[in-house]
Amino acid sequence: MIRRMSLILTLLAGAVTAAAQIVAPSTDVLGAHLNYGRGCAACHSPHSGAFGNGKAQSADPSSGVAALWGEDVSGLYGKTLATGGGSFVEVLPTTMSAATPDVAGMLTCLSCHDGNYAQTAMMKNKVYEALPSTYGTANSIPTLIGSNGNYLNEHPVGLNATVTCGTSTAWDCTQINGTIVMKGPNSSKFVSNYGFFVQLGNYNNTSVVVCTTCHDPHVMNVVKVTNGSTSGLPSGTYSTMFFLRAPYNPNDTNPLSNQTAQFCRQCHADKSNEVNGSTARTVF
Ligand code: HEC
Ligand code: HEC
Ligand code: HEC
Ligand code: HEC
Repeated sequence: MIRRMSLILTLLAGAVTAAAQIVAPSTDVLGAHLNYGRGCAACHSPHSGAFGNGKAQSADPSSGVAALWGEDVSGLYGKTLATGGGSFVEVLPTTMSAATPDVAGMLTCLSCHDGNYAQTAMMKNKVYEALPSTYGTANSIPTLIGSNGNYLNEHPVGLNATVTCGTSTAWDCTQINGTIVMKGPNSSKFVSNYGFFVQLGNYNNTSVVVCTTCHDPHVMNVVKVTNGSTSGLPSGTYSTMFFLRAPYNPNDTNPLSNQTAQFCRQCHADKSNEVNGSTARTVF
């Protein structure tokens, strides 16, 4: 009886901690992507692509073909990005009509966030959200990627940055036509402890990492979690930062919070609790 009571109490305590994470922000969820007032149309032009926004810099017949894209991306066509120290070489598409995941998942972001090949448009090149004190103070954190002239210090992205299953560093998942199914003993435990929120691109039936794998450009500081097949966390909206698709709150006041590390473990299984024999779950 006492054991059962304490089990119930533990379960309740767990529920309370998770409930404390469920937030309702008062600011617009588009956040930094309100684009200093221009709103959705900064990215999606209802008519004529970049021409409709008065931003076309060349006669690009595919402007706006994908996602009604309203920025000029022609300066990025065919450019090479060597990320992850140079091991992951991505050649960007040469048209918005290319049916590869790096069109909607990379060309789009780089049309504003590239600091090397593309025009910097209206970017201020520093993060918009107030950063917690756990970050340093030596400089403001830039938002332009590759502004030092290369992409070597960027996390691997592109059609060669593939996520697999069953290797020594990967989850015991299965990959079916480019989609990852987290149903092995460890991977399903991880999903119940945190979740699998990332959206991998599908390139020739392999799963690849693009910007929108980790980021959802529509929601900056919250993430809607539905308890079920993608996450075992209680349903609700959780804090995040930087448009990340999963709970990621470096401002969590609990110094033992592991939620930001959990984010990375969605792909880096060998660095997870589940694979290393710990019963630790997501601590908020
Ligand atoms: C900062 C740029 C940006 C802004 C601002 C933006 N979007 Fe998007 N949107 C994107 C990108 C990039 C995609 C393609 C994502 C993909 O396919 O991976 C997209 C996809 C979409 C889609 C199709 C796929 C889906 O997710 O439903 C719709 C509809 C959409 N956006 C509507 C909107 C609306 C409405 C707004 C304003 C409330 C908005 N977007 C603001 C970048 C943006
Ligand atoms: C139309 C231009 C535009 C596009 C396209 C765009 N962004 Fe942004 N983004 C901004 C602006 C403006 C800011 C605010 C910071 C600044 O001015 O440098 C920002 C800030 C951010 C931030 C930092 C937010 C913070 O917490 O401070 C992230 C992360 C980000 N964008 C990711 C993306 C991703 C991923 C994509 C592609 C899906 C994308 N952006 C596409 C304009 C854009
Ligand atoms: C593997 C996941 C992942 C991918 C892929 C990814 N990002 Fe991020 N990004 C993050 C995380 C995590 C952060 C927050 C880092 C932190 O806590 O400081 C971030 C932060 C950012 C920021 C805020 C400034 C900064 O440097 O912290 C920008 C802007 C940004 N990402 C843009 C992009 C763009 C553009 C792409 C594609 C070229 C991209 N990201 C691909 C995970 C990713
Ligand atoms: C969507 C899946 C995914 C997520 C999420 C992810 N990574 Fe990765 N990461 C990869 C892939 C794929 C590679 C390249 C192949 C490999 O090393 O497994 C990689 C490689 C790396 C590398 C080695 C880079 C090099 O130069 O060789 C580091 C370090 C790394 N990731 C750190 C992180 C961190 C930190 C986070 C969280 C902020 C993170 N990753 C989140 C998929 C991911």
